[in-house]
Amino acid sequence: MAGYLVEDTRKVTTHRLIEMKQQGKKIAMLTSYDYTMARIVDGAGVDVILIGDSASNVMAGNTTTLPITLNQMIYHATSVMHGVERALVVCDMPFGSYQVNPTEGVTNAIRIMKESGCDALKLEGGAEIIDTVKAILAAGIPVMGHLGLTPQSINKFGTYAVRAKDETEAEKLVADAHLLEEAGCFAIVLEKIPAALAGRVASELHIPIIGIGAGSQVDGQVLVVNDMLGMNKGFSPKFLRRYADLHTVMTDAIGQYVSDVKARTFPDENEQY
Ligand code: KIV
Repeated sequence: MAGYLVEDTRKVTTHRLIEMKQQGKKIAMLTSYDYTMARIVDGAGVDVILIGDSASNVMAGNTTTLPITLNQMIYHATSVMHGVERALVVCDMPFGSYQVNPTEGVTNAIRIMKESGCDALKLEGGAEIIDTVKAILAAGIPVMGHLGLTPQSINKFGTYAVRAKDETEAEKLVADAHLLEEAGCFAIVLEKIPAALAGRVASELHIPIIGIGAGSQVDGQVLVVNDMLGMNKGFSPKFLRRYADLHTVMTDAIGQYVSDVKARTFPDENEQY
């Protein structure tokens, strides 16, 4: 796969992402959960593919990310890895797999890396999980942080509203971002926070800051692929730009197939043996 719109076809590494920030080149990141989608996303030139625990919502139909298991994440990550040549592939550690203690976190992190072959892991949280982040990094596993709206804590937040609007939460977020950088994380996702705050973090830190609902003053953007392709009509947050209306395209195509079968026009003489 050559990489659509991509000049540099080398495999993306964590080191390359930091170079991209230094060179002022924006980073494009999208989720994928299966082989077919990952091949398309990688071939289109996306730099980082995330096996998000949003698989819990978009693949399994759960209302939160909490139910997805370690085994299910490993299944999605293994499928994605079969379809990727260029992008850096990051897998979310699911809820419950790293919050108990650093030892359990490292054991589960090693399982994901060993069984899926992915390149790096993403964990939600700052100071609360910093010992686990350090232990996973000490095992030689690259870690991406995730601050702001961290969906695994939705039951604590009680709302999917914008985070860190008040000064106390904003200052904690900035401090957490510094902690993650000092620990050795190679990048941080900031989700659904004010654009100015995200811009401040991106300018204070040396590692890339990837935003989702965090404005344009960051080093890259991430979206859930099913949402940006318009496969899900019911989810319309302000930050989501729909690049296609696949819900309509797919419904029309499937509806046409149903009509053709019922009308006996599929298959025709050229579509049989
Ligand atoms: O699970 C996910 O898709 C994510 C992105 C929203 C960053 O964590």
